[in-house]
Amino acid sequence: MSCVIVVGTQWGDEGKGKVVDLLTQHADVVVRFQGGNNAGHTLVVGKDRFILHLIPSGILHPEKVCLIGNGVVVDLEVLHKEITALRERGLQVGPGNLGLSEKAHLILPYHRHLDIARETAKGAASLGTTGRGIGPCYEDKVARNGLRVIDLMDEEVFKHKVETNLKEKNFLFEHFLKVSPLNPRDILDTYRPLADFIRPYVTNVSLRIDQAFQEKKKVLFEGAQGTHLDIDHGTYPYVTSSNPLAGSVCTGAGLGPLKIKSVLGITKAYTTRVGGGPFPTELFDELGEALREKGGEYGATTGRPRRCGWLDAVVLKDSVRLNSLSHLAVTKLDVLTGFKTLKICTGYTWQGRVFDHVPAQLQVLENCQPLYEEWEGWSESLRGIHKKEDLPPQTQNYLKRIEALAQVPIGIISVGPERDETLHLSNPFAV
Ligand code: IMP
Repeated sequence: MSCVIVVGTQWGDEGKGKVVDLLTQHADVVVRFQGGNNAGHTLVVGKDRFILHLIPSGILHPEKVCLIGNGVVVDLEVLHKEITALRERGLQVGPGNLGLSEKAHLILPYHRHLDIARETAKGAASLGTTGRGIGPCYEDKVARNGLRVIDLMDEEVFKHKVETNLKEKNFLFEHFLKVSPLNPRDILDTYRPLADFIRPYVTNVSLRIDQAFQEKKKVLFEGAQGTHLDIDHGTYPYVTSSNPLAGSVCTGAGLGPLKIKSVLGITKAYTTRVGGGPFPTELFDELGEALREKGGEYGATTGRPRRCGWLDAVVLKDSVRLNSLSHLAVTKLDVLTGFKTLKICTGYTWQGRVFDHVPAQLQVLENCQPLYEEWEGWSESLRGIHKKEDLPPQTQNYLKRIEALAQVPIGIISVGPERDETLHLSNPFAV
């Protein structure tokens, strides 16, 4: 038995999709355990580009099993579209290689409506959510008003719960948020065919994972978002509503912590953030613009331009601790080609105090100054390089510094979007 968890170490968009796709060749089962279709994992295979929002990235390998765990919030309209679109492109997707937890909570139209209405009402103070209904769905789950996939399997139960929930939501829509109410009938009509469509996929993900372990299979857990968007440990309230940390694999997929052997943290060679919230190393000048353009830093889910900045080792070190990372994968290193000088943030100062960890107080984080080290850049293209020794010396120095700051070895280096634009230094499944 062996299992690997892949998590983002920053604010999401670290390139997890590509790494998961690569590691899938060593895995038998790939599992999503949190988040929803706020995620957008981009995969490039030859001339084909796939953006997956809900289905684990392992789906491109037809012989692997992909599972969506109970910790994921599932918009069935999106899942249906995603399955259909992949099939139209010739991929094999069916109950034989995709399973959906019976305990996963459903994102319903009123969650999306609420997300957007609240963000609109907040105006300039909005969080910049993806508008996919993620927060409202997790709220209902915790408030014990949520609807799970299993509830949809019984039409009467589903109808009763939707009608009950909508009474409260519609009151909020009409009298507080001043937006149009929703009609339960519309939701029931949309969901009846979706229930029939999804029924063969519904499964007990915890049992399936346990069975895989008993059969000595390799399981890969695919995180979404990133450590600093974590509802507990991220830059609250500018966070998502789930726990993207490695620890949430246990609750989000249904296994115990002793099963976890290896955690791979994905770190972009610089930093990006989409949506609101503090970002100490953000660049507001032409360097930030250059990172955005060279790195194609536009959201895979919403198309929004991502905010860009230097690598933040404070953020990275917190991620090492919060996830007990065993290895790092450094992505998009090629994007840094051509920058004369590179900066790495090693601490923050605020009112004479120095921080070597991300402070909890938003006001401190918003107003702190990053402490930078400067590293010489390189001008050579990294694409096509497969051995660490063949990287320019300045690139090797930059990577060595990341390892030294994180105190974690780098196992994978990505120098381009294609599968073969990768340096494999170690196999996380070998742990
Ligand atoms: P929500 O998850 O849609 O509620 O959005 C909350 C915050 O998390 C916003 O700042 C989003 O931009 C951010 N966010 C959510 N999912 C992702 C992701 O997959 N990548 C990057 N940022 C994300």
